[in-house]
Amino acid sequence: MTATGSITVAPCSRIAGELRMPGDKSVSHRAAMLAALANGSSTLSGFLASEDCLNTLSAVEALGAGVERDGTTVTITGTGGTFRPAEGALDLGNSGTGMRLLAGLLAGQTFETELTGDASLCSRPMRRIQEPLEAMGAHVTLTGDTGTAPMRVGGAPLHAISYPLPVASAQVKSCILLAGLYAEGTTTVIEPRPTRDHTEQLLRGMGVPVNVDGLSVSVDGCGSQGPQLTAGSITVPGDFSSAAFWIVAAACRPGSQVTIRNVGLNPRRTALLDVLKRMGAGLSITPTSGADAAEPIGDITVDGSPLYGTTVEGDEIPNLIDELPLVAVAGAMAEGATVIRGAGELRVKESDRIATTVAMLQAVGVQVEEAPDGMTVTGGPVSGGASIDSRGDHRIAMCGAILGLVGRGPVDVVNVDCIATSYPSFWEDLDRVSCRGKDNVTFVIAIDGPAASGKSTVAKRVAAALDDAFYVDSGAVYRGIAWAALERRVDVHDADAVARMLDELDVGFFTRDGAVGFGIDGVEPGMAIRTPAVNNAVSPIAVIPAVRVQVVKWLQGMVSLGTLVMEGRDIGTAVFPETPLKFYLDASPEERVRRRHREMAADNAIDEEEVGASLRRRDKIDSSRKMDPLQVASGAVRIDSTAMGIDQVVDTIVAAVERDGGAWR
Ligand code: S3P
Repeated sequence: MTATGSITVAPCSRIAGELRMPGDKSVSHRAAMLAALANGSSTLSGFLASEDCLNTLSAVEALGAGVERDGTTVTITGTGGTFRPAEGALDLGNSGTGMRLLAGLLAGQTFETELTGDASLCSRPMRRIQEPLEAMGAHVTLTGDTGTAPMRVGGAPLHAISYPLPVASAQVKSCILLAGLYAEGTTTVIEPRPTRDHTEQLLRGMGVPVNVDGLSVSVDGCGSQGPQLTAGSITVPGDFSSAAFWIVAAACRPGSQVTIRNVGLNPRRTALLDVLKRMGAGLSITPTSGADAAEPIGDITVDGSPLYGTTVEGDEIPNLIDELPLVAVAGAMAEGATVIRGAGELRVKESDRIATTVAMLQAVGVQVEEAPDGMTVTGGPVSGGASIDSRGDHRIAMCGAILGLVGRGPVDVVNVDCIATSYPSFWEDLDRVSCRGKDNVTFVIAIDGPAASGKSTVAKRVAAALDDAFYVDSGAVYRGIAWAALERRVDVHDADAVARMLDELDVGFFTRDGAVGFGIDGVEPGMAIRTPAVNNAVSPIAVIPAVRVQVVKWLQGMVSLGTLVMEGRDIGTAVFPETPLKFYLDASPEERVRRRHREMAADNAIDEEEVGASLRRRDKIDSSRKMDPLQVASGAVRIDSTAMGIDQVVDTIVAAVERDGGAWR
């Protein structure tokens, strides 16, 4: 897998919608291999057309099977028990399943085959299959460094073995059972813990008995002529491991709701559901296949809620092995500690997934402690502005994207092309459940109004009521520029000088305590933007076109920070005219004067008349400004708050957001 591609994922107020999962990777690999050996033609529906599985299809075609693919429907004509020698090496790309399972089948052929893969696959341990296959009499040569692929396998008759697996691995179990089909006698694998049983289920479905006795799994061999598998129709269930990304994303984001259809619910794959239930997730599962289906299928609905830490270890580990990085993501979004132990196998996946998961969480500011066989994640804010390198591991790349989606700021995910190995439609599905409006604009609530209409108090309260939204005081940004001009002794009436200064300023935005703040040249001005000098400087600054153009761009750029409740005078008209959530707050002139006077009375003895005169002056400047004058945006909801209390105004806006935001989101 080449390490290329990067993408920025911005937070999203809620994860919602409906998805249908593409085919299961493990089942697709196995179905392709077994159909390739069967007597006659099999139709695989819902096949996962990802890079990994397409490599397996090419491999079985090279070994003599007939392969025709039409999207996710694959027709495979089997060879009737044994393969034909392939020309050249078979490249299994990034897939451990492809290589290890095929090695089992090839061990029983009368010829040798060379298997290879990408750099990640050629660094993963293969002695774990070499040892049992050699014990069965197979020839296996590993030509990579230190017990790794490329490998040559096959060319010798096999005999049955009884083999206690040193590690809980479905790939190794399957490799031995598949080789066992070519052995003389009964081959038994004894697992330390139960692992996924797709190989067993498919073999049974194709007429080959598999005996399970506790942790022992046995097949009877057919010798070198190979098994007689019955061809037929195979339905590949949707991939639970792909669904897991949306399950976790929605589960940890209160207010979210996602329904995922066509998900494989084989209990040896779904331990993540038990873990999330313990963490407090809202999950409901509706089976859509018969109760006795070998590979049960169903729909999963997830309702976001607060999560709490838990411990994951023991028998659960093999049944959520590929979801452990996601358990860590859920732990980061939960309250308290999430402990993962007994998961040393993660170190030999597509990357060292303990190391890559720890690095990923640290990049977004989450406290995590690495252990030899797991990690302890302390829930806390997932900060944005981070860059996560997948190191070519598809599941880490997708976890990075989920962190961007559910955290507090955008995340750059580097090396994302590897996602195509298992979930080529990941980004489409991400778009489908990310609640952004058209043009990918995050959910923005625009609150405009004249001075002293109460909009800043209201906007802050609305942001707090929406729980995951950030309050933005657009006026503060103009004040920041005025402050910078005063600090640099730039004449605020000299538009050119101000524009030049603006070009040189380094302005950065961040989120803190539910609001968007900013720094200028590395300094946070804080209360320095509220001085009388800045009060006087801000009006001339705010009428300079270059300033307005720049500030509008900055404000628009804030969508990458998350859901925004932005107040000002031109938010609905100039900054986010496309948001359907626009409000125009007003009150009678007398009431506004009373409010402003009340606000100021605490500090000085200014009289109401003076306040009234100053407000009238401000109204005149605001509404007669050439660029983006204060006016009611088209489609804005007007709220006259003269006779309303703050609570009533806030409730009116929140109710409208909840009512109208849904359709847009
Ligand atoms: C798989 C088994 C698991 C899993 C892998 C697919 C399979 O590996 O991590 O993604 O299809 O059998 P191990 O069995 O080696 O743990």
